[in-house]
Amino acid sequence: MNPSILKGRSLLTWIDYTPEEIRYFLSLSKKVKEEAKKGMHKQRFRGKTMALLFEKRSTRTRCAFETAFGEEGGHPVFLSNQDIQLGAKESIEDTARVLGRMFDAIEFRGYKQEYVEILAKYSGVPVYNGLTDLFHPTQALADVLTIEENLGNCAGKRLCFIGDGRNNVARSLMVISAKLGMHFTIVSPRELWPDNELKNLCEGFAKTSGSTIIITDEIESGVNGADAIYTDVWVSMGEEALKAERIRMLSPYQVNAELMAKTGNKACIFLHCLPAVKGEEVTFDVIEGPQSKVFEEAENRKHTIKAIILATL
Ligand code: CP
Ligand code: NVA
Repeated sequence: MNPSILKGRSLLTWIDYTPEEIRYFLSLSKKVKEEAKKGMHKQRFRGKTMALLFEKRSTRTRCAFETAFGEEGGHPVFLSNQDIQLGAKESIEDTARVLGRMFDAIEFRGYKQEYVEILAKYSGVPVYNGLTDLFHPTQALADVLTIEENLGNCAGKRLCFIGDGRNNVARSLMVISAKLGMHFTIVSPRELWPDNELKNLCEGFAKTSGSTIIITDEIESGVNGADAIYTDVWVSMGEEALKAERIRMLSPYQVNAELMAKTGNKACIFLHCLPAVKGEEVTFDVIEGPQSKVFEEAENRKHTIKAIILATL
């Protein structure tokens, strides 16, 4: 693959990328991580600017974009929805066209996937989805990097997401797993299964890559044989009103020592995109225990985001 084909591309979801292109992002992530560990910063974004639009809160994504871009000489500009006229007093199309004339790239975190798509369509610069209600693609790349650092090539490995199976993180993991040949299971109550449209699409990718997609509400069979157990908060940003209902639905799906043992795999790792609500989706002993790789995973957000910007800008 010629890496120049990635120049100018946006990252809205991994659906638009080939397995070969995703593997290129992964290898570049490994390379920039090694360089960063040696203290090598090459000013590769000198003279470049990026608008960071945040409708929702963020620690990792914001800091990863700001530090990855800034330490290579780029100038990130953070804009919350208190600061700009995003959809409030100005259409997204107009905001996109204005920002595209002032910035070399745009990152967007917010509610509607449609917004990030409009930004990409109208701005004329690469747009990176830093989380919407539907997808969290930069997270998924960091997750795969963490899996590969701990378990080797992800193809043929078994990743099991347990919890709110229709959220942005679960959906993004389903796409990237299917593309890269990693077996992917969602263990979740039926009410929280992802939509059939995305499932069917991913099954098509999985057929090509030689992996499988399983969606089940049965915990024992679902987690058995997993190489990595992944969970996320039971209540995503914007869904706060559903908290009581989610706790009732998802309590049996908590990741605790008993559930980790049900994998039947002592080498199984535990992943979480963070922030975590300890005592809800995961117990303190699991997230703080030896199987947990959550802080490596958080660090990998920065290296993978740097690689995404490098490849596309
Ligand atoms: N994992 C993640 O996206 O974290 P933040 O919400 O802190 O950015
Ligand atoms: N599903 C979570 C992910 C946070 C990084 C949310 O959308 O709030």
